[in-house]
Amino acid sequence: QFQVFVSPEAVAEAVAAHIAEVVRARPETVLGLATGKTFVPIYEALVRVSVETGLSFAEASSFNLDEYVGLAPNHPASFRRYMEENFFRHVDLPAERALLPEADGDAAAACLAYEAAIVARGGIDVQLLGIGRNGHIGFNEPGSAFDGRTQVAKLTPSTIAANTSDFPPGEVPPPEAITMGIGTILEAREIVLVATGAGKAEALARAFLAPPDETCPASALQRHGHVTVFCDEAAFAGMG
Ligand code: F6R
Repeated sequence: QFQVFVSPEAVAEAVAAHIAEVVRARPETVLGLATGKTFVPIYEALVRVSVETGLSFAEASSFNLDEYVGLAPNHPASFRRYMEENFFRHVDLPAERALLPEADGDAAAACLAYEAAIVARGGIDVQLLGIGRNGHIGFNEPGSAFDGRTQVAKLTPSTIAANTSDFPPGEVPPPEAITMGIGTILEAREIVLVATGAGKAEALARAFLAPPDETCPASALQRHGHVTVFCDEAAFAGMG
């Protein structure tokens, strides 16, 4: 199911309204969260809804999709830092239930621990996903197995290039990240994929117009029964 809006701002309002409705209906919702440029206005909108309507995340939990291997949690480009600045510090989600993969220690152990923590919470109710220009979801790059679990993944040169602007001048992203696998992602009860801007049009079309294929990780979402794509007209342009 596609929901198409005129602008990224309108997409952000709609995604925030949807998440707010889910959390209002079930305060103990387990959220799967994403980072990236697409989600900055979405967290901004969700924080605004929370402040304006008194929406509480006190009973909720969250699991982020991914984190760079080897970055300290307070590194300016870590996803932990992104989440703190864009969302966690502005809402009442308890810190001990706002999890990201612990990627600055024993990565293999962290992957297993993350899968176990998701299971212990009863699984993810709603997973937010962005999409890379090459069709990646999380850091599952083209060629990733559709039944993959949380793992250490190598970033492609195009993903490193796309994310370099998030790093301080002179620094580049680490070559690896811990990411939920595509199999992990597909176990979420509901998936919300968000795509904005013309740069995502080709990836979106490949993900949904051609049969599922491991060369386009997002095409695995066709095998999930409850996916909603929130996108703007620019990203939807290739679907026509
Ligand atoms: C982020 C993530 C990535 C991004 C994707 C799009 O946690 O897992 O898959 O969603 O790279 O990033 P932006 O929104 O920066 O274009």
